[in-house]
Amino acid sequence: MLSVTQFNRSFLHQLFNLAHDLRIFAQRGPLNILSGVSLASVFYEPSTRTSCSFTAAMQKLGGTVINLSDMGATSVAKGETLQDFMRVMERYSDIVVLRHPEKGAVQNVSRFMRKPIINAGDGTGEHPTQALLDVYTIREEIGTVNGLTIAMVGDLKHGRTVHSLVQLLSLYDVKIRLVSPKGLEMPPEYVQLAASKGIDVTEHSHINHVIAEADVVYVTRMQKERFADPAAAEAAKGSYVITAQTLTKAKPNMILMHPLPRVDEIHEECDLDPRAVYFRQAEHGMYVRMALLAVVAGKA
Ligand code: NCD
Repeated sequence: MLSVTQFNRSFLHQLFNLAHDLRIFAQRGPLNILSGVSLASVFYEPSTRTSCSFTAAMQKLGGTVINLSDMGATSVAKGETLQDFMRVMERYSDIVVLRHPEKGAVQNVSRFMRKPIINAGDGTGEHPTQALLDVYTIREEIGTVNGLTIAMVGDLKHGRTVHSLVQLLSLYDVKIRLVSPKGLEMPPEYVQLAASKGIDVTEHSHINHVIAEADVVYVTRMQKERFADPAAAEAAKGSYVITAQTLTKAKPNMILMHPLPRVDEIHEECDLDPRAVYFRQAEHGMYVRMALLAVVAGKA
């Protein structure tokens, strides 16, 4: 599972229904769908939600996890290549999840592997499982995805969540509004891809241009670790911020999303607004990953 380009509407429909069912079943008590199945969770970059929700998902389904996130404590510190490392990890597990700072690294190493591998974020490339939980969240919160106007706001150049999301949403009948500070626009290939699918996609420099029409506002943080010049990150910071005042101009039934971690792009005063769904969104990640793991393990 390397890129959202692998998914179609029928797969998404089945996956989301499964996530919905597993959520209800798991609330009733422990499940053993993945008993005897093990996951190697390998993170070469920091992670909270993605790694913990994969672990929680395995635990809820009765599977086991080998967690590797302190790469300095592994043989990678001795100079072992990603390829060698992963070829060994797949021998200890049934499914491997990998996050890596280099775009394309997960795709490249997958060529050497025989077991299923899930991309948990490859640098500025993609974050397909995040996009799945994002679309699942829209569907759960609003009831449908079709017919919506979805605004993505922030550092759209470096943010891999929005790179995957814009492609995944292009499978639906939606309008997409892209709002970013100058120089941090969505890479043109993703804009063109959406347009080629017949999506009404427009680019804007300020949230005020789109706030009134948006059904979903998806905010991302400045990906400062990916800036060549940290001063540029500092300069762009704060040029788009959602406050309670911003939300007064938004639709009463819109939803405010964020993949988290939030830095300062959504003020905490927004958290109590019923339209703010980012913490539920993080919880949805666990249900979607439960469904995904069940499918990848061939148990659903
Ligand atoms: C995102 C990521 O790692 O790309 N976090 C996540 O997985 N929820 C977003 C980010 O780091 O800004």
